[in-house]
Amino acid sequence: MANIKFIKEDKEIVVADGANLRYKALENDVDIYTFMGKMTNCGGYGQCGTCVVEIAEGLQNLSPRAAVEERKLKKRPPNCRLACQTMVNGPVSVITKPEKKSAKQRNNQAKSTN
Ligand code: FES
Repeated sequence: MANIKFIKEDKEIVVADGANLRYKALENDVDIYTFMGKMTNCGGYGQCGTCVVEIAEGLQNLSPRAAVEERKLKKRPPNCRLACQTMVNGPVSVITKPEKKSAKQRNNQAKSTN
């Protein structure tokens, strides 16, 4: 069993090991899509890149990044995943609809916290 905590929604759910992150989010009324994503998502086939989420904790408890994620998430930080391609095997904390930050913004943020 694994816990998925959706930080923005303040919601925690328990799922079986190997559960699909997108499917479990939608099943539990957690909105992972932006407005455009709602209109244009591929239905979980790894084609659109609109189901991106940020993993705040527990990255090691997820299935490894699929090849399609490496392509779709090139400009995102390494803790971003496509929910539809991600299987959960342990506790994780998830930020839905993460902001797109440039590398420069991330560097500035890192410097200000150090
Ligand atoms: S729903 Fe399209 S890539 Fe995940």
